[in-house]
Amino acid sequence: MAPAVVVSGSGENPGFEGRITVYVIVCVIIAAFGGLMFGYDVGISGGVTSMDDFLKKFFPAVYKKKQHVLENNYCKYDNQFLQLFTSCLYLAALIASFAASKVCTKAGRKLTMQIASIFFLIGVILTAGGVNLGMLILGRIFLGFGVGFANQAVPLFLSEIAPTRIRGALNISFQLFITIGILIANLVNYFASNIHPNGWRISLGIAGIPALMLCLGSILICETPTSLIERNKIEEGKKVLRKIRGIENVDDEFDTILHACEMAKQVKDPFRKLMKPVSRPPLVIAICLQVFQQFTGINAIMFYAPVLFQTVGFGDDAALLSSVITGLVNVFSTMVSIYLVDRAGRRFLLLEACVQMLVSQVITGIILLKELKPTADSLSKGEAIFVVVLVCFFVMGFAWSWGPIGWLIPSETFPLETRSAGFAFAVSTNMLFTFVIAQAFLSMLCRLQAGIFFFFAGWIIIMGVFTWFLLPETKGIPVDSMVDKVWMQHWFWRSFMANDDFRTDVKVV
Ligand code: BGC
Repeated sequence: MAPAVVVSGSGENPGFEGRITVYVIVCVIIAAFGGLMFGYDVGISGGVTSMDDFLKKFFPAVYKKKQHVLENNYCKYDNQFLQLFTSCLYLAALIASFAASKVCTKAGRKLTMQIASIFFLIGVILTAGGVNLGMLILGRIFLGFGVGFANQAVPLFLSEIAPTRIRGALNISFQLFITIGILIANLVNYFASNIHPNGWRISLGIAGIPALMLCLGSILICETPTSLIERNKIEEGKKVLRKIRGIENVDDEFDTILHACEMAKQVKDPFRKLMKPVSRPPLVIAICLQVFQQFTGINAIMFYAPVLFQTVGFGDDAALLSSVITGLVNVFSTMVSIYLVDRAGRRFLLLEACVQMLVSQVITGIILLKELKPTADSLSKGEAIFVVVLVCFFVMGFAWSWGPIGWLIPSETFPLETRSAGFAFAVSTNMLFTFVIAQAFLSMLCRLQAGIFFFFAGWIIIMGVFTWFLLPETKGIPVDSMVDKVWMQHWFWRSFMANDDFRTDVKVV
């Protein structure tokens, strides 16, 4: 996932004075551990749930099924509890994100990150030290609380602390940290799977490293100037601003923050404002992007790649190695996105990726339909390798489009007064549908078999049509000009703009 509640413009602001100080870099690195932590949790569960030692201990029925030669190829891992191990984290994150949004506003980003790291540490201890399924699930729930708190605070922290001219890049960088976390998890699984019988404990325990770094690091970092000023600590806010910019004269930036905080305070109930027709375009788009992002099928791969690759006939090691390869593709393609998003534009990348992902899903579906019969042998080696190539092609398309842009657009299309509330909607929709995919994928694979790929392909067509007709381009548009330059010009969305109170001349922070 994830997200950036950018309380800033996307780089169109006049750059305020100030250097990229060492202090800012340290803060960014520490906050990055929050992204790594989340990515690690996304990537670790698939490998762990495919390890025999882990299955024998917690899911003996799945282990038995897996050994059964005549068992249906597609149903080896179909078990609601096994899926719950992965999915409960996202349900917990969804619930926690509501509380986190309040804590973040009332108590600041720093404290919210500290709370997140404590949740993470408890979660790591419970999962890595797990002796029964209850303890494991409880641990995953604590990790989920950590994710809910970190995903609310870290992106906000990053965009508030970054100098204006690198804010846009930092927005997508958070997504990059997540993909690096996923890759590290894939690598750890690859090595830990050969350590018996406790390799899975190592996989789950290593999550303690980013959690500890975030915990210790968050003592060192400062609160953001915006959060301090928002909570009436005006002088302290100015002091911190001087420190992070490394210059004495920060008046312009300070005034802008102050003004924006005052304007935002005038909107007493942002959630109510969000329900008005004028808020419909960014809200509908934010929610649809999150639902579509999950229905590309990406997390079927991120969570269950090792399981999927075993399904098509790889041995344990080859399946884990293939996941490492998809993880690498994910990281590098996200970097491509950082470069292209403000050049090629959002719409082009999203539409191009729809074609790329569609081709990959359909060909994978056809191969499995023809070659992988439920109770026959698995695919030939050549075919299985081709499936990995197709999955990489799919991940590549996702990682330079729907992954980062799914988060970028909701962060740049809401006006300041509903930005945080609107973004909270995006985060919770994402968590909800991530939960749905995590809980349902293995059962869907068992019921629909190769058809699952056509199911996702169908969604990709829907999202392509949506993007073509309903998603306006926002590249290079100042965040405060969205109404005039985007919604008022759009054949469909302009009808919601009749009401003038959407207009705002609030300056961005
Ligand atoms: C999505 C996550 C996904 C990740 C993969 C994010 O944008 O929100 O659900 O696991 O990309 O890189």
